[in-house]
Amino acid sequence: MRLAPGLILLLLLTLLAGLAVVTPSLYVAGQVRDADGPVTGARVRLKGAALTARTDVRGRFRFPYSFSGRRVTAWKEGYFIGGSRLSSSPVIHLTRLPAVDNDTYEWVDPAPNPAASHNCANCHAEIYREWSHSAHAYSVTGRRFRNLYEGTDWHGNAHVGWGLLTQYPDGAGVCASCHAPATKAYDLRQVQGVAERGVHCDYCHKIASVAEGTIGLTHGRFNLRLLRPLEGQLFFGALDDVDRGEDAYSPLYRDSRYCASCHEGIVFGVHVYSTFSEWQVSPAARQGRQCQDCHMKPTGRMTNMAPHHGGIERDPNTLANHRFFDDSQDAMLRRAIKTSVRFERQPGKVRAWVRLWAEGVGHRLPTGFVDRHLVLVVEGQASDGRTVPLKAGPQLPALVGEELAGRPGRLYARVLRDFEGRSPVPFWLASPDPPLDTRLTPGKTEEDFFDFPTTLTRLCLRILYRRFWPEVVRSKQWPDNDLLVSEHVFLFLSE
Ligand code: HEC
Ligand code: HEC
Ligand code: HEC
Ligand code: HEC
Ligand code: HEC
Repeated sequence: MRLAPGLILLLLLTLLAGLAVVTPSLYVAGQVRDADGPVTGARVRLKGAALTARTDVRGRFRFPYSFSGRRVTAWKEGYFIGGSRLSSSPVIHLTRLPAVDNDTYEWVDPAPNPAASHNCANCHAEIYREWSHSAHAYSVTGRRFRNLYEGTDWHGNAHVGWGLLTQYPDGAGVCASCHAPATKAYDLRQVQGVAERGVHCDYCHKIASVAEGTIGLTHGRFNLRLLRPLEGQLFFGALDDVDRGEDAYSPLYRDSRYCASCHEGIVFGVHVYSTFSEWQVSPAARQGRQCQDCHMKPTGRMTNMAPHHGGIERDPNTLANHRFFDDSQDAMLRRAIKTSVRFERQPGKVRAWVRLWAEGVGHRLPTGFVDRHLVLVVEGQASDGRTVPLKAGPQLPALVGEELAGRPGRLYARVLRDFEGRSPVPFWLASPDPPLDTRLTPGKTEEDFFDFPTTLTRLCLRILYRRFWPEVVRSKQWPDNDLLVSEHVFLFLSE
């Protein structure tokens, strides 16, 4: 039997149609375009998932067919994040970011307020809770900070102890660049409105890039480039798949350089803040660990950053924490500081070798504000529990306060001096000569020996962390300054 040519053609066509159905069923393809045409090199992502693709020279991308119907997002440097549903031939339209920063933009208040729909906490309640507990929320209004700025004490009395305005009024305008970055006010007493919320949500999420100033010399807002829109909204962040039309991705948000302009500062010639430069030479930096990896490490508890307000369920390990500490500073300190003791019997005495080192820290310990310090208090005890005197070894200096001065132990601190060599001294009266710096260095062990009489049976080690010098705490009538990081008892078993 001969097949009619018409039938052959029909068979062929069916075959081709079959192929045509089979081939595209493996992938679903789409295109990314802007107002001028296809966008090459855009990053495309299956929203909320790890799968990504990149657009080719024709702006095209493809994903396995099994993802058909899911949402895909796209982003490229200089654009808002865009998105579309994966269907037969989806086109994702990208809109360019504003070309210039709008200096007249009005900051959005972070606090919850049903009458003000833009306030961040209305939708980002959990992130707001975290941030409200962080120092960033108190960088203008913090009571101790203001006492030191104004020369007041805890109860508001004027002219008490250290004070920038009372001791060095010419420096009044230097603090706002980092402590009140969202203001143009010169003096912190003039800061008003949302800018009083310190280092707040809207400010941080308007940071587009780091300017060309020298880190340490160009402070805070003077070295951060913002992009504030003339209309609508614009938030930069570390996620490249938030396609609400007002978000932009920036890899800077997971980079230490983002924090550097505020966390490195030579002020009045004194190296008051050195966290970023300490990090640069740390083992953590060599391993590629950024500030955010430790300080914004996801809690693992948040799965939705804007629940009931358009947020989607996400892998909790992709959502950063805004306490800026992993749990709390106390918890981080306790995990970071390690000690060990080794005893050595010597003629007529017992020598205790005490070691202290820091683990899991990305900078010196303590770091941050220059007055932070750590005190190791060592106490030898006899079998009846009484303190045995130190025969030889380091003793605590007067600087640590009457209560502890002269006791066996060590101070880990930067000790600024004034031009006559006196300490402690506020950084605005300090000599620019590099201070004595005995803080812990990550990757390095500090070791000291303490000699005691042979009646020694126990050695007690206490480690205190303090934010300010006791003399200042006393004069300002501040409550609670000492944090007991750890207390250990080591037994010396003679024979
Ligand atoms: C000091 C600057 C800073 C402040 C203040 C700040 N953020 Fe962030 N935020 C960041 C950085 C940096 C990231 C990215 C961190 C990462 O992914 O490692 C981020 C991430 C986010 C994200 C993306 C999801 C996530 O959690 O990773 C949201 C949403 C967000 N912030 C909202 C807020 C809100 C709301 C506030 C105020 C309540 C706020 N931020 C305050 C710097 C800041
Ligand atoms: C715009 C300036 C600015 C930026 C950007 C900034 N910080 Fe801060 N940060 C501050 C100021 C100011 C304080 C101190 C507030 C106070 O105690 O008065 C602070 C405090 C902190 C503290 C708390 C210290 C304490 O003793 O409680 C941590 C931790 C911290 N920042 C980490 C970071 C990290 C990590 C980044 C980057 C993701 C960052 N900061 C970005 C200005 C900034
Ligand atoms: C009306 C609700 C709402 C308000 C108000 C709001 N956001 Fe958001 N925000 C969202 C939603 C929804 C997302 C996306 C959530 C998702 O994709 O899971 C988001 C995402 C973000 C992101 C992530 C951007 C990225 O690409 O990483 C940032 C940053 C952010 N918001 C900051 C802010 C800040 C700062 C404020 C206050 C000035 C604010 N938001 C106010 C609902 C809101
Ligand atoms: C490997 C983890 C790690 C990295 C990376 C890291 N830190 Fe820390 N940071 C810690 C730990 C642990 C502490 C708590 C111990 C302490 O207070 O010194 C801490 C404490 C701090 C403090 C509090 C200082 C004080 O006593 O007031 C600040 C501020 C800070 N870090 C900022 C930063 C900045 C900025 C960066 C990046 C330049 C950074 N950290 C990188 C682990 C890290
Ligand atoms: C380069 C940015 C920068 C500048 C400029 C700056 N600070 Fe700070 N300041 C910080 C950061 C970051 C911290 C947080 C470090 C920490 O907590 O360990 C801080 C913390 C402090 C603290 C500790 C607050 C507390 O409650 O623990 C005091 C006090 C302080 N600054 C005073 C000042 C004064 C006064 C000025 C102006 C003469 C000033 N700072 C200028 C960045 C800056």
